[in-house]
Amino acid sequence: MTAFVIPLVVMNGIAVIIFALIMLLKTFVASYGSCQLVVNGSKTFTVQGGTYLNKALFENKVYLPSACGGKGTCGFCKVQVTEGIPDPLPVEEILINYKDIRQGFRLSCQTKLRSDISIEIPEELLSIREYRGVIRSSDYVTRDIKRIGIHIDEPKDGLDFKSGQYLMFKVGEGETRGYSIASTERRQDEVQIEVKLIPNGLGSSYLHSLAEGDELTFFGPYGQFYLRDTSHKVICVAGGVGLAPMKPIIFETLLKYPDRDVELYYGVRTFEDLYDHDMFLRLQANHPRFHYFPTLEKLEETVASTYAFTQGFVNKTLAANLTDGDKSEAYLCGPPLMINSSIKELVEKGVPEIRILYDKF
Ligand SMILES: Cc1cc2nc3c(=O)[nH]c(=O)nc-3n(C[C@H](O)[C@H](O)[C@H](O)COP(=O)(O)OP(=O)(O)OC[C@H]3O[C@@H](n4cnc5c(N)ncnc54)[C@H](O)[C@@H]3O)c2cc1C
Ligand code: FES
Repeated sequence: MTAFVIPLVVMNGIAVIIFALIMLLKTFVASYGSCQLVVNGSKTFTVQGGTYLNKALFENKVYLPSACGGKGTCGFCKVQVTEGIPDPLPVEEILINYKDIRQGFRLSCQTKLRSDISIEIPEELLSIREYRGVIRSSDYVTRDIKRIGIHIDEPKDGLDFKSGQYLMFKVGEGETRGYSIASTERRQDEVQIEVKLIPNGLGSSYLHSLAEGDELTFFGPYGQFYLRDTSHKVICVAGGVGLAPMKPIIFETLLKYPDRDVELYYGVRTFEDLYDHDMFLRLQANHPRFHYFPTLEKLEETVASTYAFTQGFVNKTLAANLTDGDKSEAYLCGPPLMINSSIKELVEKGVPEIRILYDKF
């Protein structure tokens, strides 16, 4: 019996070692030669096999969004592979739903190029450009939010964006983070962002550490969250630093659409977390079409005497004040919990779901 078992164990052991060696070689040494990468049937790149798809695209100036530095946790870099579809990885099966997996959607940061491949990405991603800028100003607007003004040096024709869109900032080697454009004034050569400091957060700490004159790199503009060219009333719902993209949306509506009303429902924890309050009060005084509803979770008596704040959560203010839901469209930005509860109120007030747009962060 022993004479039979020992050779079997030894042979199995050898087989396991050979398999492990093959896997190691495949991972670290394998050379796949060059591969053809076809994007949207219109652009063909020759890339080094073994490269990850997101890197191959980046090297060819196709800038996909990413919020996790290619760790496979954000899902931003999803593309549809139409030819040369690789088997899905466990991490992809978590982030991408079953239907999309079957249709070839994969994470480009997890897709290693081993043979020719064709992919489809939203056409607008092909227009994303790289920008270089210099910090013009960096000021606290609350205890943990900084407003950062950036002068755009390159490209010389500056940045064109839709109100509500965001930019991806390079915040470390291979690391980017998204920040909404918060500019109230439209200039091709200047852009403003507002960044909330997250304790030990890579991107927010980096951006908070930059001083006037420091250089930075970013990509964009990204996103489907932008002001639509319609005649509907504009409902803006913001939580905390989610106020950032609302400003271009509000200012563009007031400037461009004389018949559209705008309502801003803005929720923060305390008065110290509220910013641009005076600016919105002035805007309300000067524009009969603009209505401002600041909501504080904690309302102290000294603060309550300065303005008719609502106390509680922003979705309740929305429920109490919103009329003409069926003639409105809504833009929401802020923490997921606030967005989910506000969407519920908006739908109950008759805002069609198709007209509710949001960015959760
Ligand atoms: C479309 C879009 C637009 C955005 N616009 C803005 C904007 O205008 N202003 C802005 O400040 N941010 C914005 N963000 C969020 C921003 O991209 C970063 O996610 C955020 O700054 C945290 O990044 P970080 O690198 O500092 O933290 P990370 O290094 O990524 O995270 C550090 C730790 O903090 C945790 N963490 C991350 N975010 C939060 C949070 N909000 N609260 C508590 N813990 C957190 C992480 O789970 C992790 O444990 C936006 C995000 C998206 C997707
Ligand atoms: S999942 Fe975040 S970059 Fe790919």
